[in-house]
Amino acid sequence: MQYGYFDDDAREYVITRPDTPYPWINYLGCEDFFGLFSNTSGGYCFYRDARMLRLTRYRYNNAPIDAGGRYFYLRDGNDSEADVWTPSWMPMKSKLDRYECRHGMGYSRISSSRNGLAFSQVSFVPLRDKCEVHRITLNNESNTDKYVDMFSFVEFCLWNANDDMTNFQRNFSIGEVEIECPPEGSSAIYHITEYRERRNHYAVWGVNAPVNGFDTDRQSFLGLYNGFDSPDAVFQGQAKDSIASGWAPIGSHYIKLKLSAGESKTYVFVLGYCENPEDQKCEAQNKINKKPARDLLEKYNTTEAADKALAELNDYWKNLLGRFTVDPFSLTRADDIKMARMAGVWNQYQCMVTFNMSRSASYFESGIGRGMGFRDSNQDLLGFVHLVPERARSRILDIAATQFPDGSAYHQYQPLTKRGNNEIGSGFNDDPLWLICGVAAYIKETGDYGILNERVPFDNNDELADTLFIHLKRSFDFTVNNKGPHGLPLIGRADWNDCLNLNCFSKTPGESFQTTANFESGVAESVLIAAIFAFVGPDYAEICRRTNREDEAEYAEYEIAKMIDAVNQHGWDGNWFLRAYDAYGKKIGSSECEDGKIFIESNGFAVMAGIGVQDGRAVTALDSVKEHLDTKYGIVLLQPAYKDYHLELGEVSSYPPGYKENAGIFCHNNPWVTIAETRLGRGTRAFETYAKICPAYREDDSDLRRMEPYVYAQMVAGKDAVRHGEAKNSWLTGTAAWTFVSISQYILGVRPVFDGLLIDPCIPSDMKGFAVTRHFRGAEYHITVENSAGVEKGVKSITVDGNPHDGNVIPVFNDGKTHKVFAVMG
Ligand code: BGC
Ligand code: NOJ
Repeated sequence: MQYGYFDDDAREYVITRPDTPYPWINYLGCEDFFGLFSNTSGGYCFYRDARMLRLTRYRYNNAPIDAGGRYFYLRDGNDSEADVWTPSWMPMKSKLDRYECRHGMGYSRISSSRNGLAFSQVSFVPLRDKCEVHRITLNNESNTDKYVDMFSFVEFCLWNANDDMTNFQRNFSIGEVEIECPPEGSSAIYHITEYRERRNHYAVWGVNAPVNGFDTDRQSFLGLYNGFDSPDAVFQGQAKDSIASGWAPIGSHYIKLKLSAGESKTYVFVLGYCENPEDQKCEAQNKINKKPARDLLEKYNTTEAADKALAELNDYWKNLLGRFTVDPFSLTRADDIKMARMAGVWNQYQCMVTFNMSRSASYFESGIGRGMGFRDSNQDLLGFVHLVPERARSRILDIAATQFPDGSAYHQYQPLTKRGNNEIGSGFNDDPLWLICGVAAYIKETGDYGILNERVPFDNNDELADTLFIHLKRSFDFTVNNKGPHGLPLIGRADWNDCLNLNCFSKTPGESFQTTANFESGVAESVLIAAIFAFVGPDYAEICRRTNREDEAEYAEYEIAKMIDAVNQHGWDGNWFLRAYDAYGKKIGSSECEDGKIFIESNGFAVMAGIGVQDGRAVTALDSVKEHLDTKYGIVLLQPAYKDYHLELGEVSSYPPGYKENAGIFCHNNPWVTIAETRLGRGTRAFETYAKICPAYREDDSDLRRMEPYVYAQMVAGKDAVRHGEAKNSWLTGTAAWTFVSISQYILGVRPVFDGLLIDPCIPSDMKGFAVTRHFRGAEYHITVENSAGVEKGVKSITVDGNPHDGNVIPVFNDGKTHKVFAVMG
């Protein structure tokens, strides 16, 4: 069953009923102020860091699900018969005559109505400002006058989200607010907890109208034993004018309005983050300096101002997404529209979100646990670098600064401080190589070799700074210098698969699989890291050569060849690539094993790297993946699933069969197989692996899949799980970047390379052509691919601006013009 549809022209997903199988969310904000926003107005917002600077409170894992948000309560009527309801459906689950939620690019719009009272809410974070704007319109669609009470509601978080949810002995005494609700003009509620001491920031929740009352104390507004669905103040039709003192500060405006038949009124609510210089914190003793808040409210004090900011946001996205589009009219198969809307819009949008959030804040990531991942952020770049290359550049420099001098790296860093995270530390031996991967993608996109000369600290220490090139060299050398008995890379705490903890040997409940090493074997090896090395190594060598480091290039090529030899000698199991060697030197991912005989990652990556393409092993490996791992909903990570906990394997065997890394469909590595298939020229199969995990293809299966049909999820339950096909962990996953790479660069085959734009499609034989627009290094490429021959790979001829062109690399034009590329497959 479907719960909505794609409105392609508007670039919106339209949710047509509020009781979706899980909250279907959107992200507001592009740069430093962000909001999570569900289809029933649930969620929360924060400035830069979801853990340290959270403005509003949110209760994860709650019953009912999705409790807390920016709520608007309506009380229609002015007597005891008045009708109280919440137009976003939650929290009252009000019966609505009409409901629609449109999630768009950086904004969401909820419209509903009941008994002739129509409501519309447009919520977004304007470009450049640190606030959410909620533009609320009430419209009397009935033919009699209406008297309506409107109450806004947000609950403040006492900034540090972790502390907020745990340290009640202190928190219940520190909450403070200030109010500024004059008879004319805007009204503002200030959340100022801890401002009296070490904070120089506060939150403001304002509206561009005078109010008839307010509340700032949760208990006064709701009633101690009431939930969000039955607030006393609303049912009584009267705000309490409460001033929070400790306990739980909230912000609620009370507005009484009369709407004659057909009349509508619009209000602009702003929820903002404000900061003051240390010496200008107060206007008087214990009175906060409200200037930044007043400026902000002033800026958005008219409907026109809010609309203008929304229009700017729309232009921003239109422009960004114009950098890569798939022309829907060029498609020859009906279903391909699903691919076009994902590749052209939603997949790229999700890449922006993963670039911004890493794995910090979603409805599955609490925003307090994980910072920016070294490997994650480098991979996220792959799907983002074409959108805003300058931001990718500075991200690369931030990430590189958390690398250690020996090339290893902090596994994560905090976005606010940009410093490596000591709690997790280092030792994930794939990490260093992803830096090469990210930088290579950046250079191919931009041609900016200058980044290699930037001086970047090691271990966040300026005294240890060296050029970014040296960082790459240390990354490369780290793998070379840390090999095990078979000449394969040592795995350390884990490689890409965080749950393959081969030195962990944990018997203690609750001990972290990722940070514990009870048995540093010094021998556990990863075939996957070898394959990653073989994939990114040639880019490193190429970068060396192009920057006149010929000796280094030759050394790199020698090491890569050696690594490939090691994989061929010790990493091949007969029908597929092995996954690893454990702490006793025993094989993992081998037909000799009882469970975990075959894994997806090493097979996908080895073939991506070209290993076995010449001698037939690559075909055998991918055929084995298909035979043993493929399912209706995507390719599972391993088979057979581990039935029991294995001390020598760690977390992978801790999950019940079919979930997460233990034989779940871990979507992130499905596109590796897709790309690998394109290496073999198998376009039909490549597309099949692409479409299986692509959410738009499962839109009408939402009851089973449950997650948003417009975004990828990290995991879909595998065939061993009870609800095979059910997705979890939507939004923050490396799947976004890799699927975008797989569809745009390898299936449609428009791939940035060092010298230009390579046209190398690998498509199903019944796909007779397509057209793509790609912005690349200062010019626009209109690329049309024609496949009347019905092949899967191979370009027979190319013209550029009407002239025959040799080879399939289109040069860098950098002339601000549009160029027409016409490629014929055959
Ligand atoms: C999950 C992994 C994740 C890791 C991060 C594990 O529990 O299964 O997917 O990468 O935690 O710490
Ligand atoms: C999610 C983590 O964020 C990522 O770094 C890891 O590669 C995958 N899980 C697989 O374990």
